[in-house]
This record gives sequence, C-alpha cells and structure tokens, in this order.
Amino acid sequence: MKHTDIRAIRENADFLGKEVTVCGWVRTARDSKNMFFVELNDGTTLQHLQIVGDKSVLTAPEGANHLGAALRVVGTVVPNMQNNGVEINAASIEVLGDAPSDYPLQKKFQKLETLREMPHIRVRTNTFNAVFRVRSVMAAALHRYFQDNGYTYVHTPLLTGSDCEGAGEMFQVTTLGYNTEYKNAEDYYANDFFGQKAGLSVSGQLEGEVAAMAFGKIYTFGPSFRAENSNTPRHVAEFWHIEPEVAFAELPDIIAIAQDMIKYVIRDVMEKCPAELDFFEQRFEKGLKAKLQGVVDEEFAIVEYTDAIAQLKASGMKFEYPVEWGLDLQTEHERYITEEIYKKPVFIINYPKDIKSFYMKQNADGKTVAATDLLVPGVGEIIGCSEREADYDKLVEAMKARHMNLDDYRDYLDLRRFGSVPHSGFGLGFERIIMYVTGMSNIRDVILYPRTVGSIR
Ligand code: 4AD
Repeated sequence: MKHTDIRAIRENADFLGKEVTVCGWVRTARDSKNMFFVELNDGTTLQHLQIVGDKSVLTAPEGANHLGAALRVVGTVVPNMQNNGVEINAASIEVLGDAPSDYPLQKKFQKLETLREMPHIRVRTNTFNAVFRVRSVMAAALHRYFQDNGYTYVHTPLLTGSDCEGAGEMFQVTTLGYNTEYKNAEDYYANDFFGQKAGLSVSGQLEGEVAAMAFGKIYTFGPSFRAENSNTPRHVAEFWHIEPEVAFAELPDIIAIAQDMIKYVIRDVMEKCPAELDFFEQRFEKGLKAKLQGVVDEEFAIVEYTDAIAQLKASGMKFEYPVEWGLDLQTEHERYITEEIYKKPVFIINYPKDIKSFYMKQNADGKTVAATDLLVPGVGEIIGCSEREADYDKLVEAMKARHMNLDDYRDYLDLRRFGSVPHSGFGLGFERIIMYVTGMSNIRDVILYPRTVGSIR
C-alpha cells in the first residue's frame, strides 16, 4: 500500500504543500461545527499527525473518529500554526479497519499494571512506542559498537546440555510428557530426545569462550532463559543477553570495554531519541536526561567488594538482609551503594570466590575471584563480568569443589589444554539497561511479552 511515514512528513520540509497518503491508527478525534480533527499515529514516531477535514467539502466515513480505527488518508501537507509543525488537509479518508467502542485504550492514561493485562494492545500507547523505539535503537547501537571494534558476532546454541552458571536455574527441555513407565531418572533421560538431560541456555558464555579462542573478540546477542523463582521488577524468565568474550583481556581491560560500550550506547540513544527521552523525563523519571549525560561524561566508580561491605556496615542503615564479608550483595545493598554512596554506575570488583561461578579467575589471595558486577542507580546489577580461570588445574579444582561432573565440561576444559590465554567477558542484561535508560521501573514494561513465574501469556 503506497503511503508515506508520518516521521518522514514531520521531519522533511519538502513535503509542505504536497499531496501525500498516510496510514495509521486514530489516537484522538474531535469535532467542531465546520471541521473535524483526527490525530493519527503510524508508529514511526512518538508524535501524531493531525488530520483536518472541512465538513463542507468532506464527509468523514463511519468509524473515522473511532479510537483505534485504522485509516488511510489522502491530503495536502500544510503548516500547523499552533505547534510549529505540519498537519494534513484531508481530501479523502478511508477506514481500513474500524475499532468498536470496546477498544481498550479509550482513556488517555492507563496504569502500566492494567496495560500488562493486554500485551497485544499496550504496544499502541505512547509509552510503548517510546520504549520499543529506544530498545530498537539500543540493539542497533550495541551491534554497531562491537562490529566497528572488530568483534565477530556468534550465535551460541539455546539448547544446551551444560549449565553455565551452575545455579540450577535451567529450564528443562523434553519431548517426553508426564510418564511413569521409566525405571528411574537415568532411564527417562536416556529415552528423551537428546539421550541425556537438556535445557534452555542461561548464558552463551561457555560457547562464547570457545569462539573467542578462535576469533579473539566475539559477542553474542540473543535470549537467555532463567527458571528463577523470583517475582521481582528486575527478573524475567526469558531475557536478551549481550555477551562479549575477549581473548588476552584481563579484568581491568574488560571493565574498560564495558564502560566504553555503555557510554557509546547511551550517547547514541541521546542523539537518536530526543523526543522519547523528553517523554520519559516528563512521565517516568525526573532528571533522567541529566543522569544519562552524567553517565556519558563521568568515569564509573570501581570499588573493591571488601570496601563496599565496609561502607555498607559503616552506613548505619538497617537492611533487611545481613551485610557480612562472604555474603552476596542483595538488591537493597546494591542500590544503596550506587544510589546513595556513589550516585553513579559502580563496578564492584573481587568478590568472595564461594558466592561466584566456577569459571572465574582465582585471585592470589586465595579468597576472591577477578569478577565484577556493574551496578546502576534505580536498577541495581546490569552486568555480570569476570576474567576467566585460564589455568587447567585451578579450574578443575574449582569444579570439583562444586561437585560438578567434569565429563559434561570436557570441551570447555580443553580450552585450558590447548593454547590457553587470559581472557574475560561479561553479560549485559538488555532489558536491565533499557530500564536504566528509559526510567521504566518494571522489567515487564520493556519487553514485548514478559515471561515470569506463573505467567506466559
Ligand atoms: O550475572 P549473570 O548471571 O552472568 C552470566 O550469565 C555470565 N555468564 C555472563 C558472562 O560473563 N558472559 O547474568 C548477566 C546479566 C545480569 O547482570 C543481568 O543484567 C542479566 O544478565 N540477567 C537477567 N535479566 C533479566 N532477568 C533475569 N532473570 C536475569 N538474570 C540475569
């Protein structure tokens, strides 16, 4: 269907005085004695385009003023004196698809919670228009960042036989339904599709390391799955995961890469989505734009885990969860560090080895690993990162201490036998950084179809 994007008409003065065809959905409609007005949105921009009809020459067809109806309008682009923009002087209007009065978006503003009940409709609101344009721009920026810096994009498998994080959060994949005919679990798995237990990958890291040992610098960008039973505003069971893996990089090198990448992506959103950021600033987070400018301008803080624990203890704050060396930081602690103490993104480095994954490089102190989490105000952790243990014996020792089956990780261990090098990588939760950039406070509102415990609409 030949037509022009509303974004193009709004952004290009050459259309003034020209006849165009626009298609879109009715956002608002009103009538005066001689004229009718329709605000049309086609999704290409946050801004609507006003369609003006002169009743003495044009009769609007039935349904043209129904909220949510789809229209095709032919008309002339003329200046709109009120908002310094343009509008369409309609010559003809066709209703492509009517929307009866039970179209759910009749009220101007609806609660985000209410909108979550209708994921197929909520995308038509301004909020989701803005969120998903930013999401798209950020995805492109991430690819560009890595592509322009010599990384190879690899697609790691989603079906896997090994649990990367070892946290027991893997969804099981099976073609065998409920059944009592098997003797035991072993018999059951032997008869299943892969002849062994299989699941959905929680991370592409292990295969990413394989690729990094060949291509030097790689990244993945795809979904990861976590069967975490945590019903929080920051967890979904299916999230998008960006995982670079870099050979010959030690912890300070990968920290510099992570910071550079985040600054690059935020700069790009600020340049390409000013209207969307204005919208988020007004509706969701006062000070959002200044916050993002600060991220671009300032160095992130780097803080030893041991020092962070001392600072939390010294804060005098009453936290729900205990603060003790050797315990993991909970969201309340992470947020206090980044929101109250540093007021900017913070890398916490060198965590106790017992609370981190088996693959992390063991530090010389025998107690900590060369790992870091990047915490940001308002969200908490957005990146999990580490230098990897490149020494075969130390890696085996760490796996044995966790009672892991070495046989399942034969290929991974081979990487330490054949040309092992220092290497590092991280995982950025895509939805988490979108929350940070948009000010949206619930992860369910930055992904098209959130999958959470007990909910898979
Ligand atoms: O810290 P995580 O578990 O690290 C890994 O998976 C490493 N294998 C990454 C690597 O080094 N290649 O997860 C990385 C990030 C977290 O910081 C968080 O942003 C995001 O993934 N994430 C989630 N996002 C949404 N919902 C969940 N359930 C998430 N779990 C992790």
